[in-house]
Amino acid sequence: MRALIYREFGSAEVLEWADGQPTPVPGPDQVLVKVAAGSINPKDVLLRKGIFPRMLDREKLPRGSGLDLAGTVVARGHRVTDLKVGDQVFGMTNRFAGGVHRELVAIDATQVALAPKTLTPVEAAAVPLAALTALQALRDCAGLKPGQSVLINGASGGVGHFAVQVARCLGAEVTAVCGARNLEFVQQLGAQRAVDYGETPAWELPETFDVVFDVFGAGRCGDYRRQLGRKGIYVNTIPKPVTLWAEGRARLGLGRRNRLVIVNSNRRDLNLLRLYIDAGRLKPVVDGQYLFSDAAQGHRHVESRHTRGKVVLMAPGQGSATS
Ligand SMILES: NC(=O)c1ccc[n+]([C@@H]2O[C@H](COP(=O)([O-])OP(=O)(O)OC[C@H]3O[C@@H](n4cnc5c(N)ncnc54)[C@H](OP(=O)(O)O)[C@@H]3O)[C@@H](O)[C@H]2O)c1
Repeated sequence: MRALIYREFGSAEVLEWADGQPTPVPGPDQVLVKVAAGSINPKDVLLRKGIFPRMLDREKLPRGSGLDLAGTVVARGHRVTDLKVGDQVFGMTNRFAGGVHRELVAIDATQVALAPKTLTPVEAAAVPLAALTALQALRDCAGLKPGQSVLINGASGGVGHFAVQVARCLGAEVTAVCGARNLEFVQQLGAQRAVDYGETPAWELPETFDVVFDVFGAGRCGDYRRQLGRKGIYVNTIPKPVTLWAEGRARLGLGRRNRLVIVNSNRRDLNLLRLYIDAGRLKPVVDGQYLFSDAAQGHRHVESRHTRGKVVLMAPGQGSATS
């Protein structure tokens, strides 16, 4: 049994597609999944670099990498009745450090769902973490409603390209901010307007919006005073003291206009994403695909911070790798 592990923190070279790893046994509420593919998220890079405080990231080294996956159910715990052996699934683990990029993984059945019928396993693996983040940021944090306007900063990457499409599914009007080479791309995804951040940074736009989703996350709520007006809701993606403080206040009911999305894997939202996808309303874009044995290359691609959509790792036989 092989797994993508690292024995020390560091650059992408610490990643090993290591043989001889223990074969997992599913618990009563888990399924055992033969993994076809898994996407790389910026958090995988941060975990591998060891930048999280020990309070959050307690798992010892050596440890496994990867937060989301697509594959086939090959066994199930005795309490799992709604998934069966042979089902194609996709999902994300809620375990902070992840560890699902391996040949076989035992995962809580509530953290996976039937995969979209219209996608290949590589495409399905691109969806879970990034699309759940987009959905939960716009629907739950921002309460985005049909007819409202949303400004999405960082609209061409993993979360952003789903955010543009999810916002359209929710009936909103989208202004997408991205690099010059991606202006046409975000418009093809459904954005009514695209802005090059090299010419006009998002926080310099003259209009106001009902929602600002700062996917790139380098800014803070106060930077968007003009775009938020008196009623707009701001959502950031990066946990740092200022955003954690704002989200803590929001959860205590002390203000709901400054939010931090904290993605959560659950069957209900994965099912909703599958419905959007199979109805042709949402589509993942895969910018690069690499074998698990070439994971370092994939991680370096994500580290560029200029992916168009997602980067996916895959088992042999799932498609041709990006050169
Ligand atoms: N809190 C949570 O639960 C949660 C969940 C998921 C992700 N996140 C965080 O959300 C952030 C985005 O994740 P992701 O997967 O979308 O990352 P990503 O795919 O690496 O994002 C890359 C995108 O960022 C854009 N970008 C680069 N420089 C920019 C700038 N100066 N201004 C605006 N956009 C810029 C790039 O656009 P161009 O190529 O067009 O320049 C590229 O499309 C990460 O920090 C991640 O850790 C948090």
